[in-house]
Amino acid sequence: MQEPLLHRRDIPFFHNKTEQEIQQDPYERFDPMVLRQSALHLADDLWGSYPMQPIIDFSKIIPSTSPLKNIVEIGCGVGRWIAQWAKEFPNANCWGMDYSYQMLKRANEVWIKGDLIQLNLSRYGLPSNFQIEKTVLNNLHFGLAKAATLPFNDQSQDLVVSSFLLDRLDDPIAGLKEMKRILKPDGRILMISPLNFSRAKHWETFHPPIKIYKTLVDLGFKILDWQEDILIEEPLDLRGNSVNWKCIGVALGNSGYPPS
Ligand SMILES: C[S@@+](CC[C@H](N)C(=O)[O-])C[C@H]1O[C@@H](n2cnc3c(N)ncnc32)[C@H](O)[C@@H]1O
Repeated sequence: MQEPLLHRRDIPFFHNKTEQEIQQDPYERFDPMVLRQSALHLADDLWGSYPMQPIIDFSKIIPSTSPLKNIVEIGCGVGRWIAQWAKEFPNANCWGMDYSYQMLKRANEVWIKGDLIQLNLSRYGLPSNFQIEKTVLNNLHFGLAKAATLPFNDQSQDLVVSSFLLDRLDDPIAGLKEMKRILKPDGRILMISPLNFSRAKHWETFHPPIKIYKTLVDLGFKILDWQEDILIEEPLDLRGNSVNWKCIGVALGNSGYPPS
């Protein structure tokens, strides 16, 4: 693994994200992004259960063929999914990578430092002092990197996971190629995405989802599982308003073709 270029408050930076880049990145905004992601992923009691449970359920579909030693999540946000893996596989070295320093700072507070965190969710009609449960996982780390340039060695990861990321990337193909580069020959990728592309050109290239299927095959992935109708309901507020996401869930292995 590459050495970080710098650290900012315990978070290793593998990309030298400038102040200008930080200011331009919507995922650095605290209220609409970090607070909302915290409420969604770290406050199950508010909703009665974990709203993103279909992601976890999808994880159980394809067990890995080899013991999991290295697991990475790309676009980990506040770290819930990679923390789940770290808990389940305490001997695995787990990394959550994201391009947002603010998301990583929150992930680090919750899963590594075990800080006491209170969320003020009053502007959603929810409590002003919701307390997040502390958990400390010694086999989990977080780092700042771009999906297209990850700091991991070739063929080093047993499992690469990502949720709600593919459609956010400037260059989804570069992100997929990078996941493949770091995957061990018998490794697995699990990916869930609503394919709610933010760019018109990505709708043209990747919709309908069969185009992604073909792209994955062309990139040399073996499709181990393909689901097009995973429904996730994201709660918005106390009133019960919500957003529905229709996601694809894909489990991938290396097909060995085309030769690398
Ligand atoms: C919609 S959020 C999803 C977070 C979480 N995985 C989930 O399922 O809710 C997208 C995440 O991807 C991160 N992200 C966006 N572009 C990225 C990139 N090029 N490389 C790495 N992470 C990126 C954002 O900072 C954000 O945390």
